[in-house]
Amino acid sequence: MINLRDYTKSDIDRLVYLANNENVSRYLSYAFPYPYTKLDAVWWVETGSVAKDSIAKVIEYRGEFVGGVGITNQKGWKEHSAEIGYWIGEEYWGNGIASEALSVMIDLVFSDLKYKKLFAQVLEPNKASMRVLEKCGYGLEGVLKYEVFKSEQYFDVYHYAKYCS
Ligand SMILES: CC(C)(COP(=O)(O)OP(=O)(O)OC[C@H]1O[C@@H](n2cnc3c(N)ncnc32)[C@H](O)[C@@H]1OP(=O)(O)O)[C@@H](O)C(=O)NCCC(=O)NCCS
Repeated sequence: MINLRDYTKSDIDRLVYLANNENVSRYLSYAFPYPYTKLDAVWWVETGSVAKDSIAKVIEYRGEFVGGVGITNQKGWKEHSAEIGYWIGEEYWGNGIASEALSVMIDLVFSDLKYKKLFAQVLEPNKASMRVLEKCGYGLEGVLKYEVFKSEQYFDVYHYAKYCS
């Protein structure tokens, strides 16, 4: 029921509508700001989403843009590895969309033989995200204590990974 596709300029207003929500950005890095303005969306669609060291896809659910998933390649001796990130518009949470989108993305990434490892960094309170990763076969590699400071709060980071053997 889901489909992954590239971003287009016609996604900009919908991106602002979905992403400009503190409940979506709460456990995401400052690269996903709040408030999420039209300028942020224009930058993402025209520049961020087409950066050379990454793959970024719109998640469509029943033909509608509902979220995003992407990977960022690591460099140097970690070139075989990429960080995966994802978000879903709040009104669509709990429908299995992130789990399905991640599975499709994992297959897409590992079909490129250069990738051996995908990892995700999850802030400690973000149990839904940990569950999504576990459902997609990621394992917990470790917990990095006091790794992130955001909104006047320290967070432990749960480091999850999946390998292509
Ligand atoms: C995390 C997020 C991507 C999940 O998207 P989603 O489409 O709702 O995820 P799914 O429906 O595929 O799966 C969610 C799972 O988490 C579970 N879950 C939800 N809230 C939970 C909680 N508080 N504690 C434990 N599990 C929880 C659901 O029950 C479901 O598991 P199940 O299928 O076994 O019942 C979505 O909440 C989101 O976009 N959050 C904001 C952005 C974000 O945090 N991204 C991840 C950064 S690491």
